[in-house]
Amino acid sequence: MSNNLFSPVTLGQMSLANRVAMAPMTRNRAPGGIPTALMAEYYVQRAEAGLIITEGAQISDQAIGYPATPGIHSQAQVDGWKQVTDAVHANGGHIFVQLWHCGRVSHPDYHEGALPVAPSAIKPAGQAFTYTGLQDFVTPRALEFREIPEIVEQYRHAAAMAIKAGFDGVEIHSANGYLLDQFLRDGSNQRSDAYGGSIANRARLLLEVTGAVCDEIGADKVGVRISPVNGFNDMHDSDPQSLFNHVATELAKIKPAFLHVVEVSMAGEVDHAVDMQQIRQCFKGAYMANGSYDKARGNAAIASGAADMVAYGIPYLANPDLIERFRRNAPLNAPDMATFYGGDAKGYTDYPTLDGG
Ligand code: PHB
Repeated sequence: MSNNLFSPVTLGQMSLANRVAMAPMTRNRAPGGIPTALMAEYYVQRAEAGLIITEGAQISDQAIGYPATPGIHSQAQVDGWKQVTDAVHANGGHIFVQLWHCGRVSHPDYHEGALPVAPSAIKPAGQAFTYTGLQDFVTPRALEFREIPEIVEQYRHAAAMAIKAGFDGVEIHSANGYLLDQFLRDGSNQRSDAYGGSIANRARLLLEVTGAVCDEIGADKVGVRISPVNGFNDMHDSDPQSLFNHVATELAKIKPAFLHVVEVSMAGEVDHAVDMQQIRQCFKGAYMANGSYDKARGNAAIASGAADMVAYGIPYLANPDLIERFRRNAPLNAPDMATFYGGDAKGYTDYPTLDGG
């Protein structure tokens, strides 16, 4: 019999009960960057997932780009996350934290007036979410060559802090137009040093970060997320297939536990400019698919071998008992977009379960 979403799987050293992951989603409910008891309740409600990947957690103060997102670089943040990991583990779950640097998708208001940093001084179209509402993005400051080793060290430090906080591992966020993705794609990276220009140069920072993080906590505890066709945050690239085939080929040498691929745009559209299965073949290791999957497509992807796991975002946000609903072919709750970003328990921990919990 072929596998499906409910088949157990081994990922790194972990034996996961099923192949459904909760995808990382920003929820802006960590005032001052410190995870709360309410966040622990939210994640524990979803502990039946084979693997939870948390919302992005900034790796340094410079990495922040949104209000009330959690960090994973200070002891107070580690203490806050400990409530989350303890609760999830007590309920038999597995949980990775996503390591996040927003780069140019930020605003001087987060940096005492200083400019956000990026590979190149190229302003993205659009607006930043700030404490006082939406404000136009600014032209970021290009990181100096000599500053780059410090960024790598910040990822390494954050990974070490994640293990202290009790996480089973980390996912390196190299998707959706944030710092590592800004380095990868030539629409945002026009550097002339060893971190820009050729595909090999643009991939260098991600590979150095992945190498450092794997060295720090073990490659079996590391995933990497990419989004080859997502134009969100004003991203574009002249040859995404070659770029991401190279990324996958080089990541394969470092052997992180999985590659997590956002296969569609933010709006869920497919873009045939990139064949995701080529990327999968270059990587060779476990492949986690994400992007507008429902139960049927998820099962089909697992059964055909196109994916080893499938990550669900908005369906998991709105359905704490998503696995049980899939099992019973039950209808899903409608997501309430007004409560996605910020607020309290409403639209966060109060989505009903089938059994009335
Ligand atoms: C968002 O806040 O909309 C957001 C954050 C991180 C992502 C994607 C979207 O990777």
